[in-house]
Amino acid sequence: MTSSASPRPFLYAGDHLACSGVDVSALAQEFGTPLYVYSGDAVRERIGMMEREFAPVTHTICYAVKANSSLALLARLGTIGCGFDIVSGGELERVRRAAPEAVSRVVFSGVGKQAWEMDAALEAGILLFNVESEAELELLAERAQALGKTARIALRVNPDVFAETHPYISTGLSEHKFGIAIARAPEVYKRAAGLAGIEPVGVSVHIGSQIRSVEPFAAAVQRVRKLVEQLRGDGLQIRFLDAGGGVGIEYGKAEFDPSASMEKYAVALRSELEGLEIHLLLEPGRFVIAQAGALISRVLYTKQNGKKHFVITDAAMNDLIRPALYHAHHEIVPVVRHASRSQQVSDIVGPVCESGDFFAQDRETQALHAGDLVALLDAGAYGMSLASHYNTRVHPAEVLIEAGEAKLIRRRETFDELFAAELF
Ligand code: LLP
Repeated sequence: MTSSASPRPFLYAGDHLACSGVDVSALAQEFGTPLYVYSGDAVRERIGMMEREFAPVTHTICYAVKANSSLALLARLGTIGCGFDIVSGGELERVRRAAPEAVSRVVFSGVGKQAWEMDAALEAGILLFNVESEAELELLAERAQALGKTARIALRVNPDVFAETHPYISTGLSEHKFGIAIARAPEVYKRAAGLAGIEPVGVSVHIGSQIRSVEPFAAAVQRVRKLVEQLRGDGLQIRFLDAGGGVGIEYGKAEFDPSASMEKYAVALRSELEGLEIHLLLEPGRFVIAQAGALISRVLYTKQNGKKHFVITDAAMNDLIRPALYHAHHEIVPVVRHASRSQQVSDIVGPVCESGDFFAQDRETQALHAGDLVALLDAGAYGMSLASHYNTRVHPAEVLIEAGEAKLIRRRETFDELFAAELF
């Protein structure tokens, strides 16, 4: 159970950290570390919040698979009615296997779709292609004709809206590689409408990720609404408005009420869409899964180098790259609290041979000793999905907690599996 006071399902029972009531030390004991632990209850709760806030409008939540593409997670999201936002043939295959009933609720985004990926999506009968360029539109028309199918499309427009977030994950400015400039869109729609195999049915927008204020979303949707009205005036049957993903969360210690923040977002979008008959598509990733997950790691060693104190964990940048890649902050908490221990400032680092392999720098935590377990919080999104095998390290195992039960949803790989595709 998530306490209403905490946006995270990771809470202390006495001095022991638990995930939705299940003792985290016991999970580490049973499944080993590094270990991703997710609360299925917390994921359902987030979807529930979105469903409630968007209930007044026709909508579909198309979970962004890239945030966490675990088959077990996709299966559960499919069962509760979600659709999916995919960006590759690989992600389509995940949905086909884990949630076949949801394939008709798939939207396909991405700037570099290949012919074979288009073919697979056309054959599968997905809901919508979010087309990002005219060249892509032409290839899609060609593939649809070759297969005797019709591709429902939206153009992903670039609204030239600035969303304050990390530059690597901001996408809505005209200088970014994403989408088609909104001013050019009517012309491209006209062209699309004339192409055999193409049915323009929507407009789509995504301005970036980890966006903490609603104004940029509202500004983008306002511009897109005007476009929808213009296109309808031109005689196009625009039925879908895809507002993308991007709703941010609090990674630090500050108060955060996910339900209030979703309400604000929904109220802003709904008011921009007031009176417009349209099927709203939403592509949340982080908001749904980030806080439901933590990466559990064991301290291997501690050492003092000059003035610096280091805590070396068995998890590394290959397991969770966000701190190294974006200087992202993740709270790090001890799995067992010891009242008798003092606080200590340290760099918490992994064993990978790169100075960028850190989880935190100059971070104050309870003094950590070799053998202790720590939890890196809010690691459910863009954690495992960005994991690599760098330094020939196997991926962490993954556990899902549901109704007080822990289920292993990904076992640790063997070296045989790791090397299986290599020839020598
Ligand atoms: N839709 C599209 C077209 C996207 O490109 C993305 C994320 C989403 C939806 C989901 O956005 P979300 O709701 O999760 O913010 N690796 C980075 C985040 C990259 C986001 C990429 N696109 C990180 O760890 O912060």
